[in-house]
Amino acid sequence: MYKILEKTQFSEKVFKFRIEAPEMAKHAHAGQFLMVRANETGERVPFTFADWNPEEGWVEFIFMVIGKTTEMLSTYEAGDAIQDVTGPLGQPTEMGEGNWAVIGGGVGLAIAFPVARQLKATGHEVHAIMGARTKDLLLLEDQFRSVLDDEHIHITTDDGSYGEKGVVTAPLERLLQEKKVDHVFCVGPVPMMKFSALTAEKYDTPIIASLNPIMVDGTGMCGCCRVEVGGETKFACVDGPDFDATKVDWNDLRARQAAYLTEEGQSLKAYEE
Ligand code: FES
Repeated sequence: MYKILEKTQFSEKVFKFRIEAPEMAKHAHAGQFLMVRANETGERVPFTFADWNPEEGWVEFIFMVIGKTTEMLSTYEAGDAIQDVTGPLGQPTEMGEGNWAVIGGGVGLAIAFPVARQLKATGHEVHAIMGARTKDLLLLEDQFRSVLDDEHIHITTDDGSYGEKGVVTAPLERLLQEKKVDHVFCVGPVPMMKFSALTAEKYDTPIIASLNPIMVDGTGMCGCCRVEVGGETKFACVDGPDFDATKVDWNDLRARQAAYLTEEGQSLKAYEE
């Protein structure tokens, strides 16, 4: 059992758990993820590390309530315990030399933050591009501001309620035009990653996307997380989750993410009843 040390609520549906996991905290790297099983009969759900502290022995992950498991998790409080937590899983993000733009959209900001922080800590110049539908849904602004100064933070909201009105590709394109970045990392909804990839490709700039297909075992055995990259089948849980974004088959990923929407909806409804 893994004890919840702290619960933070960012918005109506977005939460962060800090859990006691000393061994995992010693081995976690930016870009890796963990698998959670909320209770004995629960499904396994992947979450990327949002933060970790080997000295204090904890790891953190952020989740949005979108289905039965995340709704169940949202009812847990500090002091409660999660049945199983497995990790770290997946490959750490590779951090090449040069200046970086780190793009996070929505809950993807939780994955983007440790990448930005690690890049900065290892001497890279980092621009964070933070996207959200509205101001209320913008996550971790204080955390990004604690490691980057104002001129390296670019905020967009779809409705213009905060920062620049529009999507993340606008500031990305400006940075690329001004030759301020050599590498791009992006994580968020599929359309955001797809159009970020097209933008970076236009300027011949390498771009990594952290993919989020449905996962079951997280160890390369079930095949559930397969993604098509450069015409090859890869397993996001062991080969990724980071891949060359210009080579990802985005339509395939989107279709696979939506494959069980009906069943997921039925499961949530049954849980709520
Ligand atoms: Fe099963 Fe990746 S989650 S192979």
